[in-house]
Amino acid sequence: MKRVAILISGGGSNMVKLVESMTGDHPARPVLVLSNDPEAAGLSRAAALGVPTAAVDHRPFGRDRAGFEAALLEPLEAAASDLICLAGFMRILTPGFVARFQGRMLNIHPSLLPNYPGLDTHARALAAGDAAAGCTVHEVTTELDGGPILGQARVPVLPGDTPETLAARVLKAEHRLYPAVLRRAASGDRTRLDLPASP
Ligand code: GAR
Repeated sequence: MKRVAILISGGGSNMVKLVESMTGDHPARPVLVLSNDPEAAGLSRAAALGVPTAAVDHRPFGRDRAGFEAALLEPLEAAASDLICLAGFMRILTPGFVARFQGRMLNIHPSLLPNYPGLDTHARALAAGDAAAGCTVHEVTTELDGGPILGQARVPVLPGDTPETLAARVLKAEHRLYPAVLRRAASGDRTRLDLPASP
């Protein structure tokens, strides 16, 4: 059974879907939900689901990323995590931290990578006039949003979409994609999964 830690910064809707998926014959179980924001709404949602939680506030560390990451490692190691899922975790991790979890850390990103790494993905897709948008789950490497792609889900861009309406449609696709990719990755299957478009 793989032990999964989920890192969040906000509401944690992807985290909830991942936790809810890890039951029955699933090859993994959630062992920790960890946030860089002690006020993240996802922490109480995780606790309500019976998952241990921890927070390491990044702010007192200022520019000391190594110090912040050393503090992050403590609960991760105490939980003996095999796999880490970044789920709306909005801090950039240093190469040293990423190397430690090479091949064992996944991220979900709200665009069809390699399009639109970084922030403001939905506004950028709309500005480009794209007919489709979507989300990507990938392995985390030292290249920001650049690791091997494990899965994608597409959604249509509809007339009148705003960044907010598109984000909501993409988020629903994220909720289908991330649990599906995690299940495969936890059982050692790293082949790419492409989910068909759904409205
Ligand atoms: C999700 O849309 C996720 O793809 C995005 O943050 C949101 C978190 O929502 N992640 C990034 O932008 C990473 N750069 P959630 O907290 O409800 O899961």
